[in-house]
Amino acid sequence: MNPPADHARLAAWVNEIAALTDPDSVVWCDGTKAEYDAMIRLSLEGGLATPLANRPNSYLFRSDASDVARVENRTYISSKSQDDAGPTNNWIDPVELKATLKGLYANSMRGRVMYVIPFSMGPVGSPIAKIGVQITDSPYVVANMHIMARVGKRVLKVLGKDGEFVPCLHSVGKPLLSCQDDAGKWPCAPLESKYIAHFPEDKAIWSYGSGYGGNALLGKKCLALRIASVIARDEGWLAEHMLVLKITNPEGKAKYVAAAFPSACGKTNLAMLVPTVPGWKVETIGDDIAWMKPGKDGRLYAINPEAGFFGVAPGTSTESNPNAMKSVARNTIFTNVALTEDGDVWWEGIGYDAPGKLIDWKGNEWVQDKADKSQAPAAHPNSRFTAPVAQCPSAAPEWEDPNGVPIDAILFGGRRPSTIPLVTQATDWNHGVFLGSIMGSEVTAAALDVKAGVRRDPFAMLPFCGYHMGDYFAHWIRMGEKTPEAAQPKFFLVNWFRKAKDGKFLWPGYGENSRVLKWVFERCDGAGKAVETPVGFVPEPSAIDRPEGVSAEDMKELLTVDQAGWQAELEDVKANHYPKFGAKLPKALADKLEAIKGKL
Ligand code: GTP
Ligand code: SPV
Ligand code: MN
Repeated sequence: MNPPADHARLAAWVNEIAALTDPDSVVWCDGTKAEYDAMIRLSLEGGLATPLANRPNSYLFRSDASDVARVENRTYISSKSQDDAGPTNNWIDPVELKATLKGLYANSMRGRVMYVIPFSMGPVGSPIAKIGVQITDSPYVVANMHIMARVGKRVLKVLGKDGEFVPCLHSVGKPLLSCQDDAGKWPCAPLESKYIAHFPEDKAIWSYGSGYGGNALLGKKCLALRIASVIARDEGWLAEHMLVLKITNPEGKAKYVAAAFPSACGKTNLAMLVPTVPGWKVETIGDDIAWMKPGKDGRLYAINPEAGFFGVAPGTSTESNPNAMKSVARNTIFTNVALTEDGDVWWEGIGYDAPGKLIDWKGNEWVQDKADKSQAPAAHPNSRFTAPVAQCPSAAPEWEDPNGVPIDAILFGGRRPSTIPLVTQATDWNHGVFLGSIMGSEVTAAALDVKAGVRRDPFAMLPFCGYHMGDYFAHWIRMGEKTPEAAQPKFFLVNWFRKAKDGKFLWPGYGENSRVLKWVFERCDGAGKAVETPVGFVPEPSAIDRPEGVSAEDMKELLTVDQAGWQAELEDVKANHYPKFGAKLPKALADKLEAIKGKL
């Protein structure tokens, strides 16, 4: 595609970056299938991709062993004042960080092609969509962006002569000498020179040194969450790490539910759930990010800004998530899963034993040894699939509606082996914000460099909030004040991950979570029997049918408020969590904490 001459600012930026990074050539991406195919061809020729035998147009990539997930310790919110980044974000002064990064970007694309990808987060041309332009030297990133966002010419058309765009600069940080190629090795820079940098005042993203996931597909976490959260604060809406689903009861009445769970805690699975409750239906709007804006009626309307899923492979099976399995039957990029001898993919939890000898995610031969409990997995725990939403059998007809869908309920959740009941309903908006603000979860493989154990992850936004988390809480409180009570969604805290003393999950999860969604639906309808406790409403024992395999005793434990556990939880919030936010902690939340402590 010829460079668009008519957007002077865009052309100037691209020229500036080309001069800095010195690529062999510059290619403007048009978003066509031919372009996608060319990216794949380059990857095949370079030994970075393997075609899969029984999945049309699908490929396996193996990344470098050091570049397998987001790097939170190398992710920066570089606002002018450190106080705006707040206590939960890494910060470097923007002048200093830009100087460091310019040093790294200098000639960093030598020997490579620089791709310019115009992309839209949200339906192209919709008033709530945001446009970004990503510069990258990775064909893998171009191909993934084709699936994850709307890319190419049609976006430039909307941009016109002087439309706003978020400049997103990305380099894998591995220049090539002349006559050199990657020799089949995934290009990236060492951990200590990786930077995932955000400049909230400039609304700009500079990412260097990683080719993986949220570090490199800059429309996703960088734009649609970190930069968008800043825009949302300023404009009065919400950019959240939430799935959005549609649930329809046997009478045909539908509600929309958004849910914030931390990375690898079940968003994709809930969004595509196949209910075990007869007559109920769940459909998918989005599986990772929601932008929610107040509509004329005061309700929050949510869109999924993405066009694809970048989903966790391990644990995905025909039994646990048939819709995901069908979504990845074709036109899918797999990264860091294992390869079978007959050219298919395999991962832990795919639902059947490894068929014979595999090639593991590191490229080595691997034979399953079920007796060896410490055997290293064949697929990396954060291995993923990239697949178009449009291929998902459960995609709701309105998943691309530019007006969004009105949200009836918002769920918060995480991996909590104890204390947190299966489901608790907040009594009002601020109680909901309180529950979101104290969320915690066991850390998963979705970040490379975070210590194991339970950590607080407010609103599942700890790694994704582009400004001070205390201000973010205040923004949520303010949004509630602006929303008429009748238009407010109901808030719930859920936990699929409570464990018995023997370490087994008490709740079967997956499709059985529909029993909880049914209660949520009923509560939003003014039905659904509940008991009021100091921490909120919990279902009456008869209100949620017991799934097969769950004893009456376990069910009781799942729905019981553990007084001592909650007391310890709130003590920890008071002593260790809330003080971090200093004077920026909204008084409404400190008051809520005291009120609940008093009731326990
Ligand atoms: P990100 O894409 O990182 O944001 O993750 P996510 O929140 O979309 O998580 P996802 O649905 O991909 O699930 C992550 C892991 O948790 C997978 O291995 C799932 O199999 C597992 N999982 C999801 N839902 C449940 C559940 O209800 N119960 C149990 N026990 N595991 C679950
Ligand atoms: C997450 O970690 O929450 C993800 C995967 O959704 S990534 O896009 O890599 O951030
Ligand atoms: Mn996510």
